[in-house]
Amino acid sequence: MAAASVRQVNIAIIAPGAGGVGKCFLSQLEQLTVRRPSPKVVLTYICTSKKAIYSTDHVAIPLNTVTTTLASSQQTPLALPKLVDFLGTSGSKTVLVDNTSSQDVADAYPLFLSHGISIVTPNKKAFSGSYKLWQDIFSAAEQSGAKVYHESSVGAGLPVISTLKDLVDTGDEVTKVEGVFSGTMSFLFNSFAPTSGSGGKWSAEVKKAKELGYTEPDPRDDLNGLDVARKLTILARLAGLPVESPAAFPVQSLIPKELESVASGDEFLEKLPAFDAQMEETKAAAEKEGKVVRFVGSIDVATKQVKVGLEKFDLSHPIAALKGSDNIISFYTKRYGSNPLIIQGAGAGGDVTAMGVTSDLLKVLSQIA
Ligand SMILES: NC(=O)c1ccc[n+]([C@@H]2O[C@H](COP(=O)([O-])OP(=O)(O)OC[C@H]3O[C@@H](n4cnc5c(N)ncnc54)[C@H](OP(=O)(O)O)[C@@H]3O)[C@@H](O)[C@H]2O)c1
Repeated sequence: MAAASVRQVNIAIIAPGAGGVGKCFLSQLEQLTVRRPSPKVVLTYICTSKKAIYSTDHVAIPLNTVTTTLASSQQTPLALPKLVDFLGTSGSKTVLVDNTSSQDVADAYPLFLSHGISIVTPNKKAFSGSYKLWQDIFSAAEQSGAKVYHESSVGAGLPVISTLKDLVDTGDEVTKVEGVFSGTMSFLFNSFAPTSGSGGKWSAEVKKAKELGYTEPDPRDDLNGLDVARKLTILARLAGLPVESPAAFPVQSLIPKELESVASGDEFLEKLPAFDAQMEETKAAAEKEGKVVRFVGSIDVATKQVKVGLEKFDLSHPIAALKGSDNIISFYTKRYGSNPLIIQGAGAGGDVTAMGVTSDLLKVLSQIA
């Protein structure tokens, strides 16, 4: 390939986003192209689930007007195998940015990678699905030389995945990973069982979290623990445990059995106060020991145990002292001894999540361009 074309990298974006990560990423990408003109980053394909913009000769799509152009576009998205073919014919190195949470897009990663198309994404689905998909992704990348980065799939923009990779790659022995991996659970427990004061009733805190936009539209999608289990699956695999899926280890759901099948999130919230006594009991039991209860995930690497659920912590423990909706992740390793390496901060939000995606893109650019 001629030197001139190596210095251009094409970008394809799935999900520019109406208000989430995709929108923030587009804005960061636009600033990046101004700040760092080399390598030249050229947007050649962009789509929502209904609309797309692309041209057969891979003409650059202007970033400053893309949102409005896309909204009025008459083109529909290419089916994923067709998109692989389209991106493969450009003659330039290409990076796919997947800002969806789509399993279908995640399932196609091995195909993209085997055609030399690198991937950056905050989408957890590919890395926490079946272990076979995980293996297919990384073996396709190894064979083709394409890169795959997914920093924001755990802890949003916090450097969780890169830190764990660095610990492992430099030969440290990671013995345990423990933390609060969900902004929603962090907010709920920091207000339900604060280290000082009494906190509100469980159902009232869940309702407040929903009103503040901290929960999914149906709060059960946070309270079932699956989102945390997916993040633990990713970290456990990076720490060397071949975890089959998020269903392969114990995950405590905070949804009362009786409310698992109620029809809607609103009905769930309406009926939740009847179950406040259960959570109150858990809180009181912790208080009796001078502790607070928190929803955590942990990976014990030596015993190969992964679990997600409620644990009690001394008031002086960093996990107990967490504020707002922050995440905290502690890495216990041979080198760090009894004082773990701790990463803490916002683990959700469009801008910080997009920051992880943009920094992944920069890493890929530095390796392929
Ligand atoms: N928000 C955060 O704080 C945060 C933190 C860490 C990680 N993440 C991850 O970041 C990703 C994006 O999060 P978000 O909050 O921006 O989600 P979101 O608001 O649900 O946006 C995702 C967008 O993807 C589009 N989409 C879905 N399937 C698609 C497909 N097959 N093809 C094209 N577009 C498709 C949807 O747009 P249309 O239906 O309109 O096309 C949707 O608006 C997710 O994987 C999420 O788990 C988010």
